[in-house]
Amino acid sequence: MTKLSSQNIVNHIEDVFTRRGAESYLGEDVTMAQHMLQAAQSAEKSGAEDSLIVAALLHDIGHFKNEIPETALAKGKNNYHEEAGANFLEDFFPSSVVEPIRQHVSAKRYLCAVKSDYFEHLSAASVHSLNLQGGPMNEDEVREFEKNDYLEQCLKLRYWDDDGKDPERKHPPFSYYRPLIESLVKR
Ligand SMILES: [Fe+2]
Repeated sequence: MTKLSSQNIVNHIEDVFTRRGAESYLGEDVTMAQHMLQAAQSAEKSGAEDSLIVAALLHDIGHFKNEIPETALAKGKNNYHEEAGANFLEDFFPSSVVEPIRQHVSAKRYLCAVKSDYFEHLSAASVHSLNLQGGPMNEDEVREFEKNDYLEQCLKLRYWDDDGKDPERKHPPFSYYRPLIESLVKR
């Protein structure tokens, strides 16, 4: 893999979307690219700040493990996709982008614990992964998660993530978001 820098990181991300975007998204009816682009579209429609639109767009990039440099994977404890993605992106993007991504699985576990109607809206594939991810948080985990500086952003991202699963929904292409991603790269 070419050495990644602030100069070429957006090209790399675009390349991943181009080469890998058509792969299916974990038992859902959308592709990986559709899923992430729809999440970004939901963020934008909600009037989210730029960093959170980019977080939504890139939140599942950690599923593409072999597109992530070894140095980033070496930082991880378990390299589940949310951690792998965040450890990769933190070299290039601010924590307002990275932390909601790091916590987007925890946010699902949190919402299942504190919002009684949340679970009912999850897709079958998401319920399946919830069980593998530890199920709903217990009370201690809920209290700990609420200390998170990005709590509100994590929860918003989670809703957009759950929302981005409609194979019929039209959404902008990656190129539409490219200037926004560029604007957030740490220089
Ligand atoms: Fe997702």
